Amino acid sequence: MIRLKKIILLMAIGVLLLAACTPTTEAGEKEESTEAEEGSYTYADMVLCYPQLGAESDWRTANSASIKQEADNYGIKQLIFSDAQQKQENQISAVRSCIAQGVDVIALPPVVEDGWDAVLTEAKDAGIPVIIVDRSVSADPSLYDVHLGSDMYLEGQRAAEEMNRLLPDGGNIVELFGTVGSGAAEGRADGFRDVLNDNITILDSQTGNFTRAEAIPVTEAFLKKYSDEIDGMFIHNDDMAIGAIEALKAAGYNPGDIVIVSVDGTRGGFQAMIDGWIQADVECNPLLGPQVIEIALALMNGEDVEAEILTNETVYYPEEAAELIDSRQY
Ligand code: AHR
Repeated sequence: MIRLKKIILLMAIGVLLLAACTPTTEAGEKEESTEAEEGSYTYADMVLCYPQLGAESDWRTANSASIKQEADNYGIKQLIFSDAQQKQENQISAVRSCIAQGVDVIALPPVVEDGWDAVLTEAKDAGIPVIIVDRSVSADPSLYDVHLGSDMYLEGQRAAEEMNRLLPDGGNIVELFGTVGSGAAEGRADGFRDVLNDNITILDSQTGNFTRAEAIPVTEAFLKKYSDEIDGMFIHNDDMAIGAIEALKAAGYNPGDIVIVSVDGTRGGFQAMIDGWIQADVECNPLLGPQVIEIALALMNGEDVEAEILTNETVYYPEEAAELIDSRQY
């Protein structure tokens, strides 16, 4: 009898404890288990579309690798990856194909800012959430869910601060511009101009389309046209800086004859700092895979996600390059 009473008492305590542990709302009412209500998709359910814009730079290669690697690490069901070779029409076709396949989420790194309204409207009408990755778009924010990437305008401002420091008495510079119309190039160019000292003149600005190959003839043309008038170069990414350095070497220039401020912080950029060619490298981080996949799952589950998520970045200098180069992941 005493044993039975003990059992009943223990059961009663158990019920009380369970009740105490059930979450309550602010109003104090007990909540039921939230899992089913909030949507219970897991990474294993996810079909993610990543219509990559191209393979124009080491930055881009690292970005693609990050997405593929993390899709694997998180164990998503399927990654639909394509390479648009820097052509917007290819990216638009890839997005349309993903819509037709009924993917769960589209993560789009747009090659240029304009011209996305129609296809984003199609994705919205199909009920497919969209994450704009890396560069921005000019479309109305109601047409996509999140923008995840770098603050390109801030990167340009940082580059100008470095140029002001490197040319304290002013001078003449040329700009190797990224892809015309891309959020990365336009943002960097605007930020740079807004902070550059008045005593520094931009003699010329030409696109190298973010590639090494295109940067070489553009730099050769700069050198031919302005010869020894050029004190500095603002170069929108490390791949173009490496192309420019090749042209400078071929023309007989030595490291430091023309100061260079570049963007990205790739291993190639670090090597160029060690070799004395680049004096400051503004970071732009391509390793967005984990965030893309986590945000995609949150959107599948109908969770609230911030409309704009910007990466925290820094500026790298030659003094630290040798120590850091081996730890660079891209
Ligand atoms: O949009 C990011 C930019 O695109 C990187 O700075 C550049 O290297 C890449 O091609």
